[in-house]
Amino acid sequence: MSEAAPESPYPSKQQAGKDPYSIPLEEIDVTDGELFETDTLWGFFKRLREEAPVHYCAESEDGPYWSVTTFDDIVYVEKNPEIFSSEPTIVVPDPDPDFPLAAGFITMDGSKHDAHRKTVQPVASPNNLKRLEPLIRKRVGEILDGLPVGETFNWVERVSIELTTGMLATMFDFPWEERHKLTYWSDIATMGPDQLAEIGKDEDDRKNDLIACLEFFTDLWKQRTDKPQDGELDFISALANSAATKDMPPLEYLGTLILLIVGGNDTTRNSISGGVLALNENPEEYEKLRKDPSVIPKMVDEIIRWQTPLAYMRRTATRDTELGGKSIKRGDKVVMWYVSANRDESAIPRANEFLIDREDSKHHLSFGWGVHFCMGSRLAEMQLRVLWEEIIKRFRFVEVVGEPVRIRSSFVKGFSELPVRLHRT
Ligand code: HEM
Repeated sequence: MSEAAPESPYPSKQQAGKDPYSIPLEEIDVTDGELFETDTLWGFFKRLREEAPVHYCAESEDGPYWSVTTFDDIVYVEKNPEIFSSEPTIVVPDPDPDFPLAAGFITMDGSKHDAHRKTVQPVASPNNLKRLEPLIRKRVGEILDGLPVGETFNWVERVSIELTTGMLATMFDFPWEERHKLTYWSDIATMGPDQLAEIGKDEDDRKNDLIACLEFFTDLWKQRTDKPQDGELDFISALANSAATKDMPPLEYLGTLILLIVGGNDTTRNSISGGVLALNENPEEYEKLRKDPSVIPKMVDEIIRWQTPLAYMRRTATRDTELGGKSIKRGDKVVMWYVSANRDESAIPRANEFLIDREDSKHHLSFGWGVHFCMGSRLAEMQLRVLWEEIIKRFRFVEVVGEPVRIRSSFVKGFSELPVRLHRT
């Protein structure tokens, strides 16, 4: 018999499952992870878009914050980083003053951000990706060929996690046998307090695990210092040998690693799972794919839009300003809900339908916008494209045969379980 999970440190807000229109507008709190776990978020965001596209929530677990929920307003915030800063953090909770781990350059503004981004960007450039694609395809093939046909198994564990862990190990040139450490650190770094409690851990355990992560990567850093690899770019060598980053303090190095690990891992993982679920929920779209696999690149865009694996990014107002007719004060938290913008009918035609051959398939906000636009977008798209090209060669149907289990987090939007069965014919 399995042990009961420890009780959550936070009580339910009692929003999930309720009619969103029955709750006073000012009491709605969309950072409530239960809305995401139960997939009942949609009506809440629809109401905010309709009635308060810039909405103030005075009380949440992490204090007051503004929600920005329409496509155009989010683009405005993204385009004005001098008013809406990425410092000190891009998540709603403020950094822990005893362990001020900033998540690398995603939490920086201005020239420092640009210099750090420029250091690692070549690793995810089209040329480097072209070089890596055959290896990634080979690893995809090995994973798919090892799956049991006709039996029920958890797609998240056997495919989504395995594949993204492998992809990441490739990008870091990380010791292959140890690659599962990357998954563990990614999970630990992003878990909310509820999820930490579920696996019997607390904030001190989290710190200790992340320090172990730093130690491991510091060894790799030392091995690669002053040894730039000819044409074979990896994230660690890039950081260890660039003038902008080679002297970064340990916590800044750790933050950059966490950014690259979480960026590469959780997001792609949940797009892989989300795509299988969306195709099952829309059988006519699955049929389109079977008839014409050349639709795969467009389908990949649509899966990423539909899933929106990172539901939001936070900014902090650097001065008093106005947005959507509301007065935002200096220091206020401003949360850009990509998950809502991606269903905003005023910006995306038929936004609430999953259409794998969507005309303007790249018109979405899952990768953000502007100076912080996702640095790994091409890598993620390539990983998903290669995966679906290889799936379609082998299986007629990846059938979802049970209820998915969703993660209790309003930041990383994804799954811990997706029971499936494979059919060749
Ligand atoms: C489907 C997969 C992915 C999604 C949905 C995604 C989403 C995002 C989002 C929303 C941002 C912030 C954009 C903004 O603030 O405007 C971001 C930034 C970033 N992502 Fe991704 N990401 C994905 C895959 C990856 C991969 C594979 C990597 C590579 C390891 C990566 C690395 C980064 C980095 C380094 C940044 C910071 C960019 C900056 O601050 O300049 N991401 N991503």
